Amino acid sequence: MREWTREERYRKLKNADELQKLYEKKKESEYQQKFHIQPMTGLLNDPNGFCYYDNQWHMFYQWCPWGAVHGIKHWYHVTSKDLLHWNNQGCALSPDMPEDNKGVFSGSAYIEDGELYLFYTGNHRDENWVRTPYVCLAKIDKDGTFKKKKKSLISKNPAYTENQRDPKIVYVEEKKKYYIFLGAQTKKEQGCIIVYESEKLTDNWKFLGQLKVPGFENFGKMWECPCLETIDGKDVLIFSPQYLKLPKRGENIFHNVYLIGQMDYDTLTFVPETDYQFLDYGFDFYAAQTAAVTDKKGRSILCAWVGLPENHYPSEEKDWEGSLTLIRELHINKGKLWQLPTSGIEALRRKQRTEDGVLPKYGELILKNDGGNLQLTLFGKKEEEGGIRIFYDAETKSCIVNRSGLEKKMNEQWGNELTFTLEDNLRNLRIFIDGCSMEMFVNEGEAVFTMHIFPTKEEKYLFIHGNAMVQSWDYKESITDNLIL
Ligand code: FRU
Repeated sequence: MREWTREERYRKLKNADELQKLYEKKKESEYQQKFHIQPMTGLLNDPNGFCYYDNQWHMFYQWCPWGAVHGIKHWYHVTSKDLLHWNNQGCALSPDMPEDNKGVFSGSAYIEDGELYLFYTGNHRDENWVRTPYVCLAKIDKDGTFKKKKKSLISKNPAYTENQRDPKIVYVEEKKKYYIFLGAQTKKEQGCIIVYESEKLTDNWKFLGQLKVPGFENFGKMWECPCLETIDGKDVLIFSPQYLKLPKRGENIFHNVYLIGQMDYDTLTFVPETDYQFLDYGFDFYAAQTAAVTDKKGRSILCAWVGLPENHYPSEEKDWEGSLTLIRELHINKGKLWQLPTSGIEALRRKQRTEDGVLPKYGELILKNDGGNLQLTLFGKKEEEGGIRIFYDAETKSCIVNRSGLEKKMNEQWGNELTFTLEDNLRNLRIFIDGCSMEMFVNEGEAVFTMHIFPTKEEKYLFIHGNAMVQSWDYKESITDNLIL
């Protein structure tokens, strides 16, 4: 693993020429993706500012241009007409103001009166490296570039630690007010959400208080990337709590969970009707964000980072890492969120595969199970050596995923095995494989399992023990990955 100095990580980006070599190096990587958003160079983390504006979808991602390292963060901009084909648009927000001098951190979009606003976290650090966070604002200009408001909307709340970030905007019609939900940390190091309100989107923001979430007062040390979304008539609170261990998550201390319940603005309480549930059961999933608007059918949609804070991946040898998940459509059924890959994704199918037992490098797999026990090896070697082992036990309805057989090990400090339990029998698995990632949708989205994979040339076989039928397809490329700054 390369050691970085602070100077190297926080070097300011001047022009595209500086990136040419890094871009070419990434292009040599055998693990690049074909239908997932990936960084133009360097590192990608959270999805930001996801919205529909001016007849297209906009997505931004946290971007450190310099390599597989968390350094100076920008918002890189990509757009799509169909949530499948994405085009690079260039860097939308760079750290060029005193209040964001050491990074344009995460945030979200809001559209009003035909204008697109981006609310983001200004990560300021002084000469002693003491951090002050701000909530800042940018607005799209006629030429498609983004202009920042000179002065931040919200400055650091002294009642909380320096960890205050990731604004998500909500408008509440009955109150005729806007609210900003911010991930935060109390002085006792408890994760929480603090809420601000205003009658005017771009001004007059006032601290309203700390969101009460009964039963979750002591649930990790920091909550990142909060989102409040109404889905099928229920309020859903999504957030990424840090530094806590949870059952069935191995040694992992970074999670992305949700609560279904009711948001009460009078008492500033989110009343959960369910226990916490995981948005995804895989090894690499974090910082999910819902789009600022629903899709054409009124569904809420979501995207997340395939990665975790503090993780490192083998793509680092070509100086890049991270990708976003496929866009997922959300609905509520039987007290939980069900997630489907964005509708129409079948359009990316190039041809059905006939090569028996060999996994596509970029493609999709559908497995139909008769409901009974099932054992799978994905990315095994020829004689069913190694790979990822998946065990489904029909009696307990639990699924164990063990990655210890993969050649390229990663982030083993969190463990190599994860478990999840289904409501119903295992009927089907829909697996998307793309260069260095795998997303497995279980039973029409009852559970999803996302992880990075870096298979070697020999690790390409699929083995099935049980009664399951499989179909698979190679996928077309849907990402244009050109160097645009
Ligand atoms: C989550 C996060 C956010 C922060 C951003 C910085 O992964 O830590 O809380 O705004 O990443 O890149």
